[in-house]
Order: sequence, then C-alpha cells, then structure tokens
Amino acid sequence: MSNLMNTYMQLPVTFANGEGVWLWDEAGKRYLDALAGVAVCGLGHCHPKLVKAICKQAGTLIHTSNLYHIGRQEQLAGKLAVLSGMDNAFFCNSGAEANEAAIKLARLYGHGRNIDLPTIIVMEKSFHGRTMATLTASGNRKVQAGFEPLLTGFARVPYNDLEAVAQVGIHNKNVVAILVEPYQGEGGVNVPQASYLQGLRHLCDQNGWLLMLDEVQCGIGRSGKWFAFQHSGIVPDVITLAKGLGSGVAIGACLAKGMAADVFKPGNHASTFGGNPLACTAALTTLEVIEEDDLLRNSMELGDFMRSMFKAQLAGLPDVRQIRGQGLMIGIELSKPCGDLVKEALKRGLLINVTSDNVVRLLPPLVMQRNEAEQVVNILSAIVKEFLMV
Ligand SMILES: Cc1ncc(COP(=O)(O)O)c(C=O)c1O
Repeated sequence: MSNLMNTYMQLPVTFANGEGVWLWDEAGKRYLDALAGVAVCGLGHCHPKLVKAICKQAGTLIHTSNLYHIGRQEQLAGKLAVLSGMDNAFFCNSGAEANEAAIKLARLYGHGRNIDLPTIIVMEKSFHGRTMATLTASGNRKVQAGFEPLLTGFARVPYNDLEAVAQVGIHNKNVVAILVEPYQGEGGVNVPQASYLQGLRHLCDQNGWLLMLDEVQCGIGRSGKWFAFQHSGIVPDVITLAKGLGSGVAIGACLAKGMAADVFKPGNHASTFGGNPLACTAALTTLEVIEEDDLLRNSMELGDFMRSMFKAQLAGLPDVRQIRGQGLMIGIELSKPCGDLVKEALKRGLLINVTSDNVVRLLPPLVMQRNEAEQVVNILSAIVKEFLMV
C-alpha cells in the first residue's frame, strides 16, 4: 500500500541506478532504455560531465531568488539565444509551465493590440501539459474530462491542415497566436508535411499573430537539430522547452523574439525556482555535451538507421501501418491497440512506450550507439511480430 496519489499506472519495476543507455532495477536486472525518461535523459543516465558539474554547483550555490541577478541563468539565456535565434528567455520548471508562460504572453500581446478576448489556435491530438490552461490547449479529451470548466480563448483545428487555420483567421478576429508542436509527441509521433511550419509562419505574418512552437518534446537535439523548427527554415516568435534541457534536473524555458520578447514586464509573470543556479548548470552542461559529442548528428543518423532497420524487419506485416519520426523520435503505428507491448518489452529488458493507443514510441538517449540501437530494433521487432501473430 503506497501513500502516493493514484495518478500514474506504474509498471512493476523500481530502478536503482543507471549509466549511459542502461538502467538496473533493485534486483540487479539490466534494461536497455529506449525512452530516456520520456525524452528527458538525452545524455543518458548519470553522464560523468553532468554529474560533476551539478555536484560542483550544489557545493557552490543552489538557489537564491529571481529577486537577484543569477549569473548561470544569464549565461544560459545567452546560449539558448545563440542556438535558437530568439532574443530572450523566461525560466520555469516544466513543459506545462513553459507553455503556460507562452499562453499568458500571447494573451498579454493581444490585450496590447486592443483585443479583449484573445484567442490562440491550437491543434487536434496536441499535448501541452496538465495545468488548466495547458490541458485546455491540449487536443485530447482524456486529459480534459472531469476538469471542466475549461478556459475560453482557444480555437482548435486539425493538425497539419493550413486551410483550417486560415479559415479560423477569416472568421475570428480575436486570434493572437498559434500554439503548435512541430512534431507531435503524445499524439502519436506525427510528422506534418514539410511546408507546414512555413505555411503557419506565413499566416502569422499576414495576420500579426505570434507563432509559438512547443518544442518541449522535440527540442534540444531530439529531432537531429537543436530545435525541430530548424528543419523548416522558418523562425518562430516563441519557443517552449523543458524535458531534454536539464537532463533530469527540472527546468523549462519560454524563449521569445522580436515583438514577443518585449511583452512581459516586471510583475506579469514569475517562478520561485525557475532558472536557479543548479538547474541552469544542468542545462548549460547538457548543451555543452551535445555540442562536444556531436549528438545532433548522432540523433539524425541513428534515427534514420533505426527507422530503416525497423522497416526492413517489419516489412510485409499488414498490421504495421507506418514507421515514422524525425531524428530520435520514432513512432511505429499498428492497426490495433498495443499497450501490452510495453510490459512484454520490460520483461525482456527493454524500455519503450505506447502512445495514442496504437503507436509504439521510442525516444532513446541521444548518446545511444549503433550496436545498442540494433539491440533495441531486434528485441522490439521480435516482440511486435509475436504480438501481431496472435
Ligand atoms: C509537447 C509537450 N508539451 C508539454 C508537455 C508537458 O511537460 P511537463 O510534463 O514537463 O509539464 C509535454 C510532456 O509530455 C509534451 O510532450
């Protein structure tokens, strides 16, 4: 009997320690991690450089307050600005909070333009978090049901449908922004048409809307570039980050550019823990290691390698609908619900996830090597084949 609130359907395992792409449970059984704490542990587990940096920072200064200047935070904002092309950053502690900041920023931007009921266009099958605003923004009834009344100020359209967005713009003069995942994660590892973000950028430019990209899952190297939008050649107005940014030390960020970067004024938004020296050190070290170890290239190449290996091993199976993704964000869509695969993989020492009922999702650490990736594909392909035979 546990004293935890009943919010998670937990798998029957407790991990005791980890190293690289491997985890060990309390009985000493070893697991190959193809999920990385759901896109968090890009550097794998307990990367020595990260461990050293956070231990050193913990012994120097952990937290002061945003009432004072924080050197590590300013350094991190500068680094993220260089990598993303944004102008400035607000730091918080999670993806939901980063999106909450973006939603508030968009509303304030709207009020600044004399729009009293600002509306944000959001997508079907999207996921933006579990706070009231972010679950309202999410395109999934399961995360909303029971929490009504939801917020107003959102207009929902199908993902990957530019015409639907244009239509909202024609009929609703209160639109101030679009909030969208460049690649949808929880919604089933959905990859839109190549020109989708360009089309959204064009609509935003025409209408004076902010283009706000939720890169909480697909950012920080996961797609094979620092940020997923960098595959499309456009520049957004707002980017939200969390997950992979701190390698497991909680940190989120809302980055902004141009007009969007000047919206917040003192008193508009805040976070007690946001951007403390410890979290910022974890993030700075994460970015450093990604650069030094050429992990963007690894993410791009290994992702392509794994998708082509899966395509070869699962070829000809009519119940395998599609193998898709970008970089180390990999989805295998089956024609039937396949949640049971997670337990079967766990038994065989492999950590995977199933999302949207019928999509096997892999989010391996960016440090994964080819031979480890081969093991993931071999174990998982065998399990999928057995599952589809019965
Ligand atoms: C795209 C996206 N946005 C936001 C979130 C929410 O992040 P957090 O759980 O850190 O609040 C997630 C989490 O899965 C996500 O995938």
